[in-house]
Amino acid sequence: MEKQTLLTGQTLVFQGDPLHHAWEDCVEINSTGGVLIDGARIVSVGDAATLKAAHPQAEVFSYGDDLICPGFVDAHTHYPQTAMIASWGKRLIDWLNTYTFPEEARFADPAYAAEIAERYLDLTAANGTTTMASFATIHAGSVDALFEAAAARGQCVVTGKTCMDRNAPDDLRDTAQSAYDDSKALLEHWHGKDRARYAITPRFSPTSTPEQLSALGALWAEHPDCMMQTHLSEQPDEVAWVRSLYPDARDYLDTYETHGLLGARGLYGHAIHLEQREIDRLAEVQGRVIHCPTSNAFIGSGALDLPALTKANVPLGLATDTGGGSSFSMLRTMAAAYEAAQHHGHPLHAAQLLWLATQGSARALHLGEEIGSLAAGYYADIAVLDLKSTEAIAQRANRSGSVWEDVFATIMLGDDRAVRATWIAGSRV
Ligand code: GUN
Ligand code: ZN
Repeated sequence: MEKQTLLTGQTLVFQGDPLHHAWEDCVEINSTGGVLIDGARIVSVGDAATLKAAHPQAEVFSYGDDLICPGFVDAHTHYPQTAMIASWGKRLIDWLNTYTFPEEARFADPAYAAEIAERYLDLTAANGTTTMASFATIHAGSVDALFEAAAARGQCVVTGKTCMDRNAPDDLRDTAQSAYDDSKALLEHWHGKDRARYAITPRFSPTSTPEQLSALGALWAEHPDCMMQTHLSEQPDEVAWVRSLYPDARDYLDTYETHGLLGARGLYGHAIHLEQREIDRLAEVQGRVIHCPTSNAFIGSGALDLPALTKANVPLGLATDTGGGSSFSMLRTMAAAYEAAQHHGHPLHAAQLLWLATQGSARALHLGEEIGSLAAGYYADIAVLDLKSTEAIAQRANRSGSVWEDVFATIMLGDDRAVRATWIAGSRV
């Protein structure tokens, strides 16, 4: 038996999906909860006193009234954009050309990629994020850098080489063949190696020729257990550009489908300006829409009506989309998701927001049976939240009648100061 650890505090436990059922029936906070960890995994979740009595040899970490949650799962991010987050004044296409592509070109240097990968994992761990699906850059070394840094921390990450063979600078273009070859070599090396998961990654339809999309669709058909991640319908100008580049396509989603890039293991970032056919088709194949609300506000893309997509039975994940997103924090991201849904008259409950940031995103990544819940057999990837982390939050909590009010205040007002501890694979980081 490996060393056992017992975390005690208020534990967040899921019994069902609060987006599709009454949240009260699906999410519970146990005010005297405990999580027993053995090695990298959770072995038991229950009442702290009972667990303590049954496992007297376990080392105890008492977190008092803090909320012990599953670690946050960020379902769409760009770790190579860490250093240029919060770049001023552009909308999507200008933002990519002005800020993003020059920064991504620096990842030709593997030492720079390694430096940023470490910094990115430090920043996200400080914010309670334990798993992410990240775009890399066009350089194979940028994929190795993130997988290597994550492996050293015992961390589950999803990433893949970002493929582009047009409408990008010379030093950021591959070809249909090299995108296929490089992605294949990377996924054969990394996918399923301990906690590494590969995502085939065409950036988006405007930066790939139809030949490149087809080559990557063929690769996905050869490796159907990999994920596929891309962008979809983020801004109206982009949608119009896709229409002109793919005149035969029915719509933006169709540019992926006709090249073999639509499926349940597909992650489609943003998806704000969808036509009804696209919504119906995503629901039919269970393609995942990844909601990036801080990015959608920051780049001026729009406010996704997430509850409407839920009603249409489209599976959803939640994501920062750094550095288009303006924060590394999934708390801030939950707040922005709340605000975007409010825009459409659909307030999301704190229980639904926490679900989206943990088990919801884990399910979007097809990892819902190993991460995103506090339950026996799951990896001990955990975020501990101080529900009174600042004066502003503490005074709000003093007036509150319920723990859910306190949790909501921390979601709306909290940042990395609210993250008391982050555990990855049973180790405190
Ligand atoms: N669309 C294509 N590439 C990107 C990117 O890097 N960030 C965002 N937000 N949208 C994109
Ligand atoms: Zn993105």
